[in-house]
Amino acid sequence: MTWARKHLLDIESLTPDEIVTVLDTARAFKAVGKRAIKKVPALRGKTVVNLFIEPSTRTRISFELAEQRLSADVINFSTEASSFKKGETLKDTARNLEALNADFIVIRHSASGAPHFLARVLDAHVINAGDGAHEHPTQALLDVFTIREHKGKIAGLNITILGDILYSRVARSNIWARRKLGATVTLCGPATLVPKTFEQMGCRVTYDVDEAIRGADIINLLRIQHERQRKTMFPSINEYIQLFGLNKERLARAKPDALIMHPGPINRGVEIDSDIADSGRSLVLEQVTNGLAVRMAVLFLANGGKGPQEVAGN
Ligand code: CP
Repeated sequence: MTWARKHLLDIESLTPDEIVTVLDTARAFKAVGKRAIKKVPALRGKTVVNLFIEPSTRTRISFELAEQRLSADVINFSTEASSFKKGETLKDTARNLEALNADFIVIRHSASGAPHFLARVLDAHVINAGDGAHEHPTQALLDVFTIREHKGKIAGLNITILGDILYSRVARSNIWARRKLGATVTLCGPATLVPKTFEQMGCRVTYDVDEAIRGADIINLLRIQHERQRKTMFPSINEYIQLFGLNKERLARAKPDALIMHPGPINRGVEIDSDIADSGRSLVLEQVTNGLAVRMAVLFLANGGKGPQEVAGN
Protein backbone atom coordinates (compact mmCIF):
# COMPACT_ATOMS: atom_id res chain seq x y z
CA MET A 1 0.00 0.00 0.00
CA THR A 2 1.52 3.30 -1.02
CA TRP A 3 0.60 6.92 -1.39
CA ALA A 4 2.82 9.43 -3.18
CA ARG A 5 0.64 12.53 -3.62
CA LYS A 6 1.49 15.91 -2.21
CA HIS A 7 -2.07 17.23 -2.46
CA LEU A 8 -5.63 15.93 -2.32
CA LEU A 9 -7.47 17.92 -5.00
CA ASP A 10 -10.16 15.53 -6.23
CA ILE A 11 -11.29 11.93 -6.44
CA GLU A 12 -11.33 11.88 -10.24
CA SER A 13 -7.55 11.54 -10.46
CA LEU A 14 -7.19 8.92 -7.70
CA THR A 15 -6.72 5.25 -8.46
CA PRO A 16 -8.88 2.64 -6.69
CA ASP A 17 -5.73 1.54 -4.79
CA GLU A 18 -5.13 5.08 -3.55
CA ILE A 19 -8.73 5.33 -2.34
CA VAL A 20 -8.39 2.01 -0.50
CA THR A 21 -5.12 3.24 1.06
CA VAL A 22 -6.96 6.26 2.49
CA LEU A 23 -9.76 4.03 3.80
CA ASP A 24 -7.36 1.56 5.45
CA THR A 25 -5.30 4.39 6.94
CA ALA A 26 -8.49 5.99 8.27
CA ARG A 27 -9.44 2.68 9.87
CA ALA A 28 -6.09 2.69 11.71
CA PHE A 29 -6.69 6.29 12.85
CA LYS A 30 -10.22 5.43 14.00
CA ALA A 31 -8.63 2.80 16.27
CA VAL A 32 -6.21 5.46 17.59
CA GLY A 33 -9.26 7.61 18.42
CA LYS A 34 -10.53 4.92 20.80
CA ARG A 35 -7.35 5.03 22.91
CA ALA A 36 -6.98 7.06 26.12
CA ILE A 37 -4.35 9.20 24.38
CA LYS A 38 -5.79 10.15 21.02
CA LYS A 39 -2.94 12.31 19.74
CA VAL A 40 -0.09 11.17 17.51
CA PRO A 41 3.00 13.21 16.58
CA ALA A 42 2.71 12.79 12.78
CA LEU A 43 2.37 16.53 11.99
CA ARG A 44 4.37 17.92 14.93
CA GLY A 45 6.16 21.10 13.79
CA LYS A 46 3.87 21.53 10.76
CA THR A 47 1.49 24.46 10.35
CA VAL A 48 -1.93 23.92 8.79
CA VAL A 49 -4.14 26.83 7.71
CA ASN A 50 -7.86 26.20 7.31
CA LEU A 51 -8.77 28.67 4.57
CA PHE A 52 -12.56 28.47 4.46
CA ILE A 53 -13.97 31.12 2.15
CA GLU A 54 -17.42 29.46 2.24
CA PRO A 55 -19.46 28.46 5.31
CA SER A 56 -18.91 25.03 6.85
CA THR A 57 -19.72 23.26 10.10
CA ARG A 58 -18.74 19.60 9.70
CA THR A 59 -15.75 19.85 7.35
CA ARG A 60 -14.09 22.82 9.06
CA ILE A 61 -14.43 21.45 12.58
CA SER A 62 -13.38 17.90 11.71
CA PHE A 63 -10.33 19.15 9.78
CA GLU A 64 -9.37 21.29 12.77
CA LEU A 65 -9.77 18.38 15.17
CA ALA A 66 -7.87 16.06 12.81
CA GLU A 67 -4.98 18.54 12.66
CA GLN A 68 -4.91 18.84 16.45
CA ARG A 69 -4.95 15.04 16.85
CA LEU A 70 -1.95 14.91 14.50
CA SER A 71 -0.15 17.52 16.69
CA ALA A 72 -0.02 20.23 13.99
CA ASP A 73 -0.10 23.97 14.71
CA VAL A 74 -3.50 25.09 13.45
CA ILE A 75 -4.58 28.48 12.09
CA ASN A 76 -8.23 29.14 11.24
CA PHE A 77 -8.60 31.83 8.62
CA SER A 78 -11.67 34.01 9.04
CA THR A 79 -12.86 35.67 5.83
CA GLU A 80 -14.76 38.36 7.72
CA ALA A 81 -11.67 39.46 9.67
CA SER A 82 -9.26 39.19 6.73
CA SER A 83 -7.87 41.52 4.08
CA PHE A 84 -10.13 39.77 1.53
CA LYS A 85 -12.48 42.54 2.59
CA LYS A 86 -9.90 45.04 1.25
CA GLY A 87 -9.66 43.34 -2.12
CA GLU A 88 -6.68 41.02 -1.58
CA THR A 89 -6.71 38.12 -4.04
CA LEU A 90 -6.80 34.42 -3.19
CA LYS A 91 -3.31 33.99 -4.64
CA ASP A 92 -1.84 36.85 -2.60
CA THR A 93 -3.62 35.67 0.52
CA ALA A 94 -2.32 32.13 0.14
CA ARG A 95 1.24 33.29 -0.67
CA ASN A 96 1.23 35.42 2.47
CA LEU A 97 0.13 32.40 4.49
CA GLU A 98 2.99 30.45 2.94
CA ALA A 99 5.38 33.29 3.81
CA LEU A 100 4.31 32.67 7.40
CA ASN A 101 5.47 29.05 6.94
CA ALA A 102 2.12 27.37 6.33
CA ASP A 103 2.90 23.77 5.33
CA PHE A 104 -0.70 22.84 4.49
CA ILE A 105 -3.59 24.88 3.14
CA VAL A 106 -7.02 23.27 3.58
CA ILE A 107 -9.28 25.28 1.29
CA ARG A 108 -13.02 25.57 0.78
CA HIS A 109 -14.02 28.01 -1.95
CA SER A 110 -17.10 28.79 -4.02
CA ALA A 111 -15.04 28.69 -7.24
CA SER A 112 -14.49 25.30 -8.87
CA GLY A 113 -10.76 24.76 -9.38
CA ALA A 114 -9.57 27.09 -6.58
CA PRO A 115 -7.57 24.28 -4.84
CA HIS A 116 -5.99 23.23 -8.17
CA PHE A 117 -4.97 26.83 -8.77
CA LEU A 118 -3.33 27.08 -5.32
CA ALA A 119 -1.52 23.79 -5.87
CA ARG A 120 0.06 25.33 -8.99
CA VAL A 121 1.23 28.55 -7.32
CA LEU A 122 2.24 27.34 -3.83
CA ASP A 123 4.85 24.99 -2.42
CA ALA A 124 2.50 24.04 0.43
CA HIS A 125 0.34 20.92 0.42
CA VAL A 126 -3.20 21.76 -0.71
CA ILE A 127 -6.24 19.83 0.49
CA ASN A 128 -9.60 20.45 -1.18
CA ALA A 129 -12.37 20.89 1.41
CA GLY A 130 -14.98 21.60 -1.30
CA ASP A 131 -14.67 23.73 -4.46
CA GLY A 132 -17.86 25.11 -5.96
CA ALA A 133 -19.97 22.41 -7.58
CA HIS A 134 -16.82 20.50 -8.60
CA GLU A 135 -15.59 18.13 -5.87
CA HIS A 136 -15.58 17.49 -2.12
CA PRO A 137 -13.08 14.63 -1.96
CA THR A 138 -12.91 14.09 1.80
CA GLN A 139 -16.72 13.88 1.96
CA ALA A 140 -16.69 11.07 -0.63
CA LEU A 141 -13.87 9.29 1.20
CA LEU A 142 -15.69 9.41 4.54
CA ASP A 143 -18.87 8.26 2.79
CA VAL A 144 -17.27 5.18 1.20
CA PHE A 145 -15.47 4.51 4.51
CA THR A 146 -18.87 4.50 6.28
CA ILE A 147 -20.46 2.28 3.64
CA ARG A 148 -17.57 -0.19 3.83
CA GLU A 149 -17.90 -0.36 7.63
CA HIS A 150 -21.58 -1.31 7.33
CA LYS A 151 -21.67 -3.42 4.18
CA GLY A 152 -18.12 -4.80 4.27
CA LYS A 153 -17.49 -3.78 0.65
CA ILE A 154 -18.35 -1.23 -2.03
CA ALA A 155 -18.06 -3.43 -5.14
CA GLY A 156 -21.41 -4.81 -6.27
CA LEU A 157 -23.54 -2.49 -4.12
CA ASN A 158 -26.45 -0.53 -5.59
CA ILE A 159 -26.15 3.06 -4.45
CA THR A 160 -28.79 5.67 -5.21
CA ILE A 161 -28.02 9.38 -4.96
CA LEU A 162 -31.27 11.33 -4.73
CA GLY A 163 -31.58 15.10 -4.95
CA ASP A 164 -29.79 18.05 -6.52
CA ILE A 165 -26.99 16.33 -8.41
CA LEU A 166 -26.18 19.14 -10.85
CA TYR A 167 -24.96 21.62 -8.24
CA SER A 168 -23.47 19.07 -5.86
CA ARG A 169 -19.72 18.63 -5.39
CA VAL A 170 -20.58 15.79 -2.98
CA ALA A 171 -22.37 13.98 -5.81
CA ARG A 172 -19.47 14.33 -8.24
CA SER A 173 -16.83 13.12 -5.77
CA ASN A 174 -19.06 10.28 -4.65
CA ILE A 175 -19.84 9.17 -8.19
CA TRP A 176 -16.10 8.94 -8.90
CA ALA A 177 -15.31 7.14 -5.64
CA ARG A 178 -18.15 4.63 -5.80
CA ARG A 179 -17.72 3.85 -9.50
CA LYS A 180 -13.96 3.39 -9.06
CA LEU A 181 -14.62 0.93 -6.21
CA GLY A 182 -17.12 -1.06 -8.29
CA ALA A 183 -20.58 0.09 -7.12
CA THR A 184 -23.55 0.62 -9.40
CA VAL A 185 -24.66 4.25 -9.01
CA THR A 186 -28.20 5.45 -9.79
CA LEU A 187 -29.00 9.17 -9.83
CA CYS A 188 -32.51 10.54 -9.29
CA GLY A 189 -34.11 13.94 -8.87
CA PRO A 190 -35.87 16.60 -10.98
CA ALA A 191 -34.76 16.39 -14.64
CA THR A 192 -33.41 19.94 -14.42
CA LEU A 193 -31.09 18.89 -11.59
CA VAL A 194 -30.12 15.44 -12.94
CA PRO A 195 -29.17 15.87 -16.59
CA LYS A 196 -28.67 12.73 -18.65
CA THR A 197 -25.06 13.82 -19.24
CA PHE A 198 -24.23 12.20 -15.88
CA GLU A 199 -24.59 8.85 -17.67
CA GLN A 200 -21.17 9.65 -19.15
CA MET A 201 -19.77 9.16 -15.62
CA GLY A 202 -21.05 5.57 -15.70
CA CYS A 203 -24.26 6.23 -13.75
CA ARG A 204 -27.85 5.23 -14.37
CA VAL A 205 -30.24 8.21 -14.43
CA THR A 206 -33.94 7.87 -13.57
CA TYR A 207 -36.66 10.36 -12.67
CA ASP A 208 -38.83 7.73 -10.98
CA VAL A 209 -38.05 7.87 -7.28
CA ASP A 210 -39.63 4.51 -6.48
CA GLU A 211 -37.51 2.84 -9.16
CA ALA A 212 -34.41 4.58 -7.79
CA ILE A 213 -35.08 3.41 -4.25
CA ARG A 214 -36.15 -0.16 -5.08
CA GLY A 215 -33.13 -2.46 -4.86
CA ALA A 216 -30.80 0.19 -3.42
CA ASP A 217 -28.41 -0.87 -0.66
CA ILE A 218 -27.66 2.78 0.12
CA ILE A 219 -29.97 5.76 -0.39
CA ASN A 220 -27.82 8.89 -0.33
CA LEU A 221 -29.87 12.07 -0.08
CA LEU A 222 -28.66 15.52 -1.06
CA ARG A 223 -30.14 18.88 -0.20
CA ILE A 224 -31.13 21.48 -2.78
CA GLN A 225 -28.06 23.72 -3.24
CA HIS A 226 -29.97 27.02 -3.39
CA GLU A 227 -26.74 29.00 -2.94
CA ARG A 228 -25.41 27.79 -6.32
CA GLN A 229 -28.63 27.84 -8.37
CA ARG A 230 -28.90 30.94 -10.50
CA LYS A 231 -32.47 30.28 -11.63
CA THR A 232 -35.53 28.39 -10.43
CA MET A 233 -34.89 24.72 -11.20
CA PHE A 234 -38.30 23.30 -10.17
CA PRO A 235 -41.75 24.79 -9.53
CA SER A 236 -41.84 24.73 -5.71
CA ILE A 237 -40.40 23.11 -2.60
CA ASN A 238 -43.80 21.53 -1.94
CA GLU A 239 -43.72 19.85 -5.34
CA TYR A 240 -40.14 18.66 -4.68
CA ILE A 241 -41.25 17.15 -1.35
CA GLN A 242 -44.19 15.39 -3.05
CA LEU A 243 -42.12 13.96 -5.90
CA PHE A 244 -38.68 13.32 -4.36
CA GLY A 245 -38.74 13.71 -0.57
CA LEU A 246 -37.87 10.51 1.34
CA ASN A 247 -40.79 9.67 3.63
CA LYS A 248 -41.90 6.51 5.45
CA GLU A 249 -44.18 5.35 2.63
CA ARG A 250 -41.38 5.58 0.07
CA LEU A 251 -38.83 3.99 2.37
CA ALA A 252 -41.21 1.06 2.98
CA ARG A 253 -40.69 0.11 -0.69
CA ALA A 254 -36.90 -0.08 -0.25
CA LYS A 255 -34.90 -3.14 0.77
CA PRO A 256 -35.26 -3.77 4.53
CA ASP A 257 -31.51 -3.38 5.00
CA ALA A 258 -31.15 -0.24 2.87
CA LEU A 259 -29.27 2.47 4.77
CA ILE A 260 -29.77 6.23 4.57
CA MET A 261 -26.91 8.69 4.10
CA HIS A 262 -26.73 12.47 3.84
CA PRO A 263 -23.62 14.70 3.92
CA GLY A 264 -25.43 17.43 5.88
CA PRO A 265 -26.64 19.99 6.46
CA ILE A 266 -30.04 18.26 6.27
CA ASN A 267 -33.27 20.08 5.52
CA ARG A 268 -35.77 18.19 7.65
CA GLY A 269 -39.13 17.76 5.96
CA VAL A 270 -37.73 18.56 2.51
CA GLU A 271 -35.37 15.88 1.14
CA ILE A 272 -35.73 13.73 4.28
CA ASP A 273 -38.46 13.26 6.89
CA SER A 274 -37.29 13.95 10.42
CA ASP A 275 -38.15 10.48 11.72
CA ILE A 276 -36.03 8.86 8.98
CA ALA A 277 -33.10 11.21 9.66
CA ASP A 278 -33.18 10.19 13.33
CA SER A 279 -33.87 6.47 12.75
CA GLY A 280 -31.53 3.52 13.23
CA ARG A 281 -31.17 3.26 9.45
CA SER A 282 -29.67 6.72 9.19
CA LEU A 283 -25.86 6.97 9.04
CA VAL A 284 -25.84 10.78 9.06
CA LEU A 285 -24.01 11.27 12.36
CA GLU A 286 -21.72 8.28 11.82
CA GLN A 287 -20.61 9.96 8.59
CA VAL A 288 -19.63 13.02 10.63
CA THR A 289 -17.75 10.88 13.18
CA ASN A 290 -15.85 9.08 10.42
CA GLY A 291 -14.85 12.38 8.86
CA LEU A 292 -12.32 12.86 11.64
CA ALA A 293 -10.39 9.61 10.97
CA VAL A 294 -10.59 10.11 7.20
CA ARG A 295 -9.23 13.67 7.40
CA MET A 296 -6.44 12.51 9.73
CA ALA A 297 -5.57 9.88 7.11
CA VAL A 298 -5.57 12.38 4.25
CA LEU A 299 -3.28 14.83 6.09
CA PHE A 300 -1.01 12.01 7.25
CA LEU A 301 -0.65 10.59 3.72
CA ALA A 302 -0.13 14.01 2.09
CA ASN A 303 2.64 14.60 4.64
CA GLY A 304 4.52 11.56 3.35
CA GLY A 305 2.92 8.72 5.31
CA LYS A 306 2.77 5.60 3.17
CA GLY A 307 -0.31 3.87 4.58
CA PRO A 308 -1.92 2.20 7.61
CA GLN A 309 1.24 0.23 8.35
CA GLU A 310 2.86 3.51 9.45
CA VAL A 311 0.13 4.58 11.85
CA ALA A 312 1.54 4.27 15.39
CA GLY A 313 0.73 1.00 17.11
CA ASN A 314 -0.91 -0.48 14.03
N1 CP B 1 -20.96 17.96 4.47
C1 CP B 1 -20.41 19.19 4.52
O1 CP B 1 -19.51 19.56 3.74
O2 CP B 1 -20.88 19.97 5.54
P1 CP B 1 -20.32 21.41 5.88
O3 CP B 1 -20.68 22.33 4.75
O4 CP B 1 -20.98 21.81 7.18
O5 CP B 1 -18.82 21.32 6.03
